[in-house]
Amino acid sequence: MSNADQIQTEITLKVSLGDRSYPIHIGENLIDRQELYQPYIHGKQVFVITNDVVAPLYLDKVLAALSNYETNAFILADGESHKTIETVNSIYTFLLEQRANRSATLIALGGGVVGDICGFAAASYQRGINFIQIPTTLLAQVDSSVGGKTGVNHKLGKNMIGAFYQPQAVLADTLTLNTLDDRQLSSGLAEIIKYGLIRDKPFAHWLDENISNILKREPIALAEAIKRSCENKAQVVAADELERGQRALLNLGHTFGHAIETALNYGSWLHGEAVAAGTYMAALFSNQLGWISSADLDYLENQLKLAKLPTRPPENISAEQFMQLMAVDKKVIDKKLRLVLLKSIGNAIVSDEFDQEKLIHMLETIERIPTNFAPIN
Ligand SMILES: NC(=O)c1ccc[n+]([C@@H]2O[C@H](COP(=O)([O-])OP(=O)(O)OC[C@H]3O[C@@H](n4cnc5c(N)ncnc54)[C@H](O)[C@@H]3O)[C@@H](O)[C@H]2O)c1
Ligand SMILES: [Zn+2]
Repeated sequence: MSNADQIQTEITLKVSLGDRSYPIHIGENLIDRQELYQPYIHGKQVFVITNDVVAPLYLDKVLAALSNYETNAFILADGESHKTIETVNSIYTFLLEQRANRSATLIALGGGVVGDICGFAAASYQRGINFIQIPTTLLAQVDSSVGGKTGVNHKLGKNMIGAFYQPQAVLADTLTLNTLDDRQLSSGLAEIIKYGLIRDKPFAHWLDENISNILKREPIALAEAIKRSCENKAQVVAADELERGQRALLNLGHTFGHAIETALNYGSWLHGEAVAAGTYMAALFSNQLGWISSADLDYLENQLKLAKLPTRPPENISAEQFMQLMAVDKKVIDKKLRLVLLKSIGNAIVSDEFDQEKLIHMLETIERIPTNFAPIN
């Protein structure tokens, strides 16, 4: 690679949160560079938390970069179904057996599942120890590794147990995405598209031209998409870390999407796929309320399709089931459902001012697609 390419594909951003501010490094070949870890590790002990899919791919590289420290790794079973308090407890046991002290550092090496679990373990072990995020999926690089939401699922609801706890640094090594399958890459695109829709129209237009390059894993397009996504997320988080207001906009499509994931038992649809269908549902409802135009609705549908994502909910989830599942959403206040809705491309609001009957009508009439919609790879 030439130096010119290197410059364009290596970027550092900052999440500004006073004395808890931290950098996001984005680029190729970051995970084996000792100097990127060293400023954020204060004690001697470093423990890498990863899973049995990612460990064979990247653990050795990370441990090699940490050879100046006392290191060990704890390898979780892969999958959202292991994002539980029991898994967190197994990490506590490991840390206690290793005599991990309060100056130990945890490193989350993996996708959003590993990042959320490891972050919560870091937030709660001995009331909080340092941690570094090394996100290895597109979704984790553009969304879950930034912003400090950590936690696990409860069998009665997704992400219901957790803490806000910021990492010391994020290392998003875009080369790790080369081993990710195409479907996971598209899943990450759902969150990327979200930033354009809620607050960044120029980014939405940039994506029109670049989604196909991202799907081809073209390094400059990938780095730019990750950078612009993280800039958007960092700005929202800096303004509203604890989600008292505008941070809720990042949940566009998620109220419907989480209902889909829960109804399908976190099984057949990936998070981004459920969010994509949920985003279309939120936009369709916004259109029916007289907000977003039909032209913008078509535009957004087309963008999701370019990213090879589903745009309709799966069959077999009735309107009634949707309403029941959405009633446990974290945005529900005093039993009132609040939704992220679109006024136009780049302009979203959180609202509870809509007629429930109209929502039920949308859920009853929206077209459905097969649960096993054509896999894309
Ligand atoms: N904390 C937040 O703000 C936030 C935001 C969005 C999503 N999330 C959470 O993130 C999770 C979804 O994250 P995800 O989509 O990364 O899923 P994931 O962590 O399950 O990763 C997807 C799959 O890819 C594998 N994988 C990871 N990196 C790989 C690589 N480089 N090469 C090959 N395979 C690799 C994983 O082992 C897994 O099988 C959900 O639990 C969701 O709730 C959290
Ligand atoms: Zn999401």
